[in-house]
Amino acid sequence: MKVTVIGAGNVGATCANVLANREVANEIVLVDIKENFAEGKALDMWETSPVTYFDSRITGSTNNYELTKDSEVVVITSGIPRKPGMSRDDLIATNAGIVKTVTEQAIKYSPNAKIVVVSNPLDVMTYCAYLTAKKPSTQVFGMAGVLDTARYRSFLALELNVSPKDIQAILMGGHGDTMVPLPRYTTVSGIPVTELVSKERIEAIVERTKKGGGEIVKLLGTSGWYAPGASAAQMVEAIVKDQKRIFPVCTWLQGEYGIKDLYLGVPVVLGKNGIEKIIELDLNDSEKALLKTSEDAVRKVKEVLDGMGVVA
Ligand code: NAI
Ligand code: 2OP
Repeated sequence: MKVTVIGAGNVGATCANVLANREVANEIVLVDIKENFAEGKALDMWETSPVTYFDSRITGSTNNYELTKDSEVVVITSGIPRKPGMSRDDLIATNAGIVKTVTEQAIKYSPNAKIVVVSNPLDVMTYCAYLTAKKPSTQVFGMAGVLDTARYRSFLALELNVSPKDIQAILMGGHGDTMVPLPRYTTVSGIPVTELVSKERIEAIVERTKKGGGEIVKLLGTSGWYAPGASAAQMVEAIVKDQKRIFPVCTWLQGEYGIKDLYLGVPVVLGKNGIEKIIELDLNDSEKALLKTSEDAVRKVKEVLDGMGVVA
């Protein structure tokens, strides 16, 4: 069973490395446009196998999609970061062009693959892959909520000085400052977080989560990769092992939560068929208002992409 990761940069390579070390697939193919880059990363990772004990084969390729043939899952991390002088719209156009090209290639060789998009701006790049792939939306979705929830859970674990394993949470909306962490649906081993952490501290942690990507950029000068790569790998594992995990996933909505024709993060059941169920929570009025703000923000970016005509 094969998994392909497109883009062998920071996030893609980390994702492949986690997949190999967890032996999620027996074959992992890493693809990049940069000459020999994926080959070098794949070889370096393979050379860790006798030390960290895995036997998943990792192959790297410079744009040779034949090697990706019959992948069960394709993870798309290819894209460029925003550069000085580049507008947000320029970034949308550039990354949409990249996501479109790699999706076409991937689908040509793996028409039945589930596609997990990671490239930013996430919600709209997932939409771009969906338009390109022309597959059921249950098979094309994006990774953001797993990462954003991981950040939220890790901050709560620090606050309470407990294991992050015991923090359960859900979060909704777009991948950006308008995301909607949901303290009402956050528990610590079943105990509502509101019984353990003050309202003020929860609010501060929610705010830190919303700006979690930016916090890393301030520290590193670029976006993070360990948590994003591991989060994408966790989604792949749920699909490949048919785990039926409940994760927040960037999903094509057709009326759920009163939202139509938009990719946005909502809780779903993830298994071998991709998105097997969208879970509709009974949100209260303030949660609904926050989700609406997030919907509006993502819809604006979608309209920019629609107006560009990059994808038919
Ligand atoms: P990176 O710059 O380290 O890697 C991107 C790779 O894509 C490069 O190696 C580049 O050569 C490759 N690439 C570009 N065009 C390509 C093409 N046409 N075909 C194949 N490969 C191509 O960037 P990094 O840090 O790995 O981030 C990747 C993307 O993921 C970015 O768009 C970033 O904003 C996004 N991201 C999304 C997150 C999320 O939660 N959804 C979290 C973190 C990053
Ligand atoms: C992140 O959340 C920037 O999407 C990237 O780290």
